Amino acid sequence: MTGNSEAAGRAGAILTIDLPALRHNYRFLQNKLGKARCGAAVKADAYGLGAIKVAQALQQEACRDFFVAHLDEAIALRPHLLAESAIYVMHGSPVGYEAEFLEFNCTPVLNSLEQIAAWRALATAKQKTLPAIVQLDTGMSRMGMSPQEVQAWLADPAITQGIQVTHLMSHLACAEDQQDPMNQQQLQTFRALRALLPACGATLANSSGIFLGSDFHFDMARPGAALYGVAPVADLPNPMKAVASLQAKIIQIRTIAAGAGVGYSITYRAPAARTIATVAVGYADGWLRSLSNRGVAYIAGQAAPMVGNVSMDTITLDVSNVDAAQLYPGAPVDLLSATNTVDIVARLAHTIGYEILTSLGQRYHRHYLESESE
Ligand SMILES: Cc1ncc(COP(=O)(O)O)c(C=O)c1O
Repeated sequence: MTGNSEAAGRAGAILTIDLPALRHNYRFLQNKLGKARCGAAVKADAYGLGAIKVAQALQQEACRDFFVAHLDEAIALRPHLLAESAIYVMHGSPVGYEAEFLEFNCTPVLNSLEQIAAWRALATAKQKTLPAIVQLDTGMSRMGMSPQEVQAWLADPAITQGIQVTHLMSHLACAEDQQDPMNQQQLQTFRALRALLPACGATLANSSGIFLGSDFHFDMARPGAALYGVAPVADLPNPMKAVASLQAKIIQIRTIAAGAGVGYSITYRAPAARTIATVAVGYADGWLRSLSNRGVAYIAGQAAPMVGNVSMDTITLDVSNVDAAQLYPGAPVDLLSATNTVDIVARLAHTIGYEILTSLGQRYHRHYLESESE
């Protein structure tokens, strides 16, 4: 074996990232948005899938608006994107690092009067008008200008002199539940604040927000999770294509007698003779410990429950019901697949698909599918 296939041969698991599926998901969301622009949240290394590869694939679909959380994420991404692509830093500038936004051609999301003042000071010093998004807190109490800060802005409109506010932004707290009254409350608050402030663009919807209807679309949406295959609407079939699949390998197989224990703290004891396969993925790879005695893997389409605690580098599966011909060192084990989706794994782990994706580890061999035919 050479090159990539050699690395894949050595690795304990292969993470495949399906870029055509990602691009399909982008087109699907853009189509739902109609005239509103579809941006992309590529923070946290595009939810663990690789921000550079993901953003470049989305650029091929004409995406030009990328959202990260940290300035450092923007700096790392900048050289790999078209100059015309905007990179928005949702945390805004770390105090004192405003000039780096000019140096690296990225745009802050301003979340407070302090951040506005610092950005304005830079505009004054450079004698330039500088672009920014301003975030408003419409009820999540996490980021953005509080209603009191908005009042202070209204009382003194000059505080944004020298700043070209391209968009007002806010973030929805409960959008995956379409019945939650919080959605309408936040929409009304956002509309009311917009009406008070100078006219400019607006962005409210994350992935789930896009599915709340056109009232939530405004000029631009900022989906992340749905692009990466996570279900955007609770309790409805997932219309998105899976983007990440994870195939691990068996490293050892043993038969244990009734009463034998498995793994740290022996949280599982075999009720009868069992065949146990040890697989080369553990919590250090993001296979969460909360999947202990709860997760399921698939071998040649046959379900194999996880038994015992997840260790740092391994999990143990009860493969007693799997065809013996499929059980050998190196045999493939599907951990994330069309059957075992990110959302299913998340439910078993008592978490959300976002955490499953952003936990995906660095020891996997990563394979990017570039075209449909691969
Ligand atoms: C402010 C903001 N906008 C957009 C997103 C993307 O959200 P989602 O992944 O739910 O589409 C996030 C993600 O947490 C966010 O914090």
